[in-house]
Amino acid sequence: MRKEQTDFLVIGSGVAGLRAAIELSGEGRVIVITKDVPTESSTEYAQGGIAVALSDEDEVGIHYEDTLRAGDGLCREEAVRALVEEGPERILELISWGAEFDKEAGKKQKLAFGLEAAHSRKRILHAGGDSTGKELERVLIEKARTIPSIRRLPFTMASDLLVEDGACYGAVVVSGRSPLAIFARATVLATGGLGQVYSITTNPQVATGDGYAVAYRAGAALEDMEFVQFHPTSLYLPSAPHFLLTEALRGEGGKLLNIRMEPFMARYHQEMELAPRDVVSRAIFTEMGLTGAEHVYLDLRHMGADFVKKRFPRVFSTCLRYGFDITAQPIPVCPAAHYMMGGVKTDIMGRTNIRGFLAAGEAACTGVHGANRLASNSLLEGLVYGRRAGLSAAESPLSAREVSEKEKAFFFPSAQPYSIPAHDEIRGDLRRLMWQNAGIIRNEASLLSARERIEKWRYITEKSFLSRRELELKNMIEVSALIVRAALLRKNSVGAHFRSDYPQKEGGWQRHISFVRGREE
Ligand code: FAD
Ligand code: SIN
Repeated sequence: MRKEQTDFLVIGSGVAGLRAAIELSGEGRVIVITKDVPTESSTEYAQGGIAVALSDEDEVGIHYEDTLRAGDGLCREEAVRALVEEGPERILELISWGAEFDKEAGKKQKLAFGLEAAHSRKRILHAGGDSTGKELERVLIEKARTIPSIRRLPFTMASDLLVEDGACYGAVVVSGRSPLAIFARATVLATGGLGQVYSITTNPQVATGDGYAVAYRAGAALEDMEFVQFHPTSLYLPSAPHFLLTEALRGEGGKLLNIRMEPFMARYHQEMELAPRDVVSRAIFTEMGLTGAEHVYLDLRHMGADFVKKRFPRVFSTCLRYGFDITAQPIPVCPAAHYMMGGVKTDIMGRTNIRGFLAAGEAACTGVHGANRLASNSLLEGLVYGRRAGLSAAESPLSAREVSEKEKAFFFPSAQPYSIPAHDEIRGDLRRLMWQNAGIIRNEASLLSARERIEKWRYITEKSFLSRRELELKNMIEVSALIVRAALLRKNSVGAHFRSDYPQKEGGWQRHISFVRGREE
């Protein structure tokens, strides 16, 4: 196997990975690998914006309270505090690096703050109307490009970590169907989420949960895997992907109607369309069941065509491409898998239970989101915790000498790569199974049946592969099994995890469920 050595390895080039790499760039050589083109990430597609307590009417303490409330009692308070207190500094830094956030009409200097569900203040900064993530990705990639110590390797996929005696020495990656061992003093995992394990998702193709599976195989602790967030509104058109229809559309006054054109949110929550995301998703799902429909409508017609086109240009033009004028017709929408609150368990500095191995962003679980993430807190998480993981990686307990010795002694038995017959069919079956049995509303019977079917594919997780699709499937099976296992163990309903057989928030609900390979913590 080919080998190479660097000081720091960062896996993933979304907001968290890039921010970590920039932080590390003054400390040595950094390699950033990404399995697709550098921009392909959830970050690139983020629409609504980035939450930060910077407006005249806002306070860090109020952002803190709103985050805790959305998290439904399971947030780690110190993680939330770090997010909201450090957030303003990270945003001002990003602006100093060239980020252009939208300004109030007619005021060139005054940042425009939007409102989203469960925020008690207008605090969402946005860029290009509804292209906030694209702007973040642009600025961070340009910044990284100007730094000579950062080397970026696109189309390079991490397949396993190099872990021995509780320390991580880098990763085995696959590039052009050939394996390569990259040795490093510290490895930062920033591989994003797992929406693709569900057949209905807002997430891009790269979000197959690789990081969780790779970390789990290496012995890292994973936590809160039952908490998958379902976004209330994705486009429902049989011929179109489940394109996200941002929360900000409801923040600006968009109304939900059932297929009989009746408003229904008042029956579910006093804050109606602006109730927490898990509440709105369940309300829509329930209403779909009651009316026997596969969608409800999001109605923007009263908001005025000029306003909608200007404030939401990306949503407007994307829907128009599918023959839909959102200013003139109510939009068919349904909930979709969107974000993973759980992940690789870290402290508030990104440190895991493995020395020299850090995690940040959606791949990590600091506990900052508890059982349900507050809208637009994730991009901020990427900036704050990406930087923190970078700081910790710089202080890795492993020395360059130790890493060199490992590299010299390294021997990787050449396993014959396996090829799965009909792997795309299994992928489709798995994704539909997860949507139907481990989705917005679960119960013992649905989860047990999912577990049984996933077990039949378990042999795939024991094999070696050299193709991206097959490696992804292996990881998707692994993380699906973990979601189902955690959802079975949590016999109550909290935040985004809803059990129809245990609909109450009771019976030890404060507990966090963690897994380390082979045993439950
Ligand atoms: P990502 O941005 O997903 O980056 C992960 C990176 O890892 C990618 O480069 C990927 O290619 C790479 N990768 C994955 N697996 C491997 C592997 N095995 N080997 C190598 N590389 C790998 N949040 C907000 O706060 N505000 C919003 O407005 C918002 N809107 C959203 C809209 C959409 C459509 C989606 C999908 C999400 C949205 N979110 C939003 C959530 C937010 O965008 C993500 O949670 C956040 O961007 C995650 O950042 P990240 O750096 O952790 O991961
Ligand atoms: C959205 O724009 O609705 C997504 C915001 C988020 O996921 O935080």
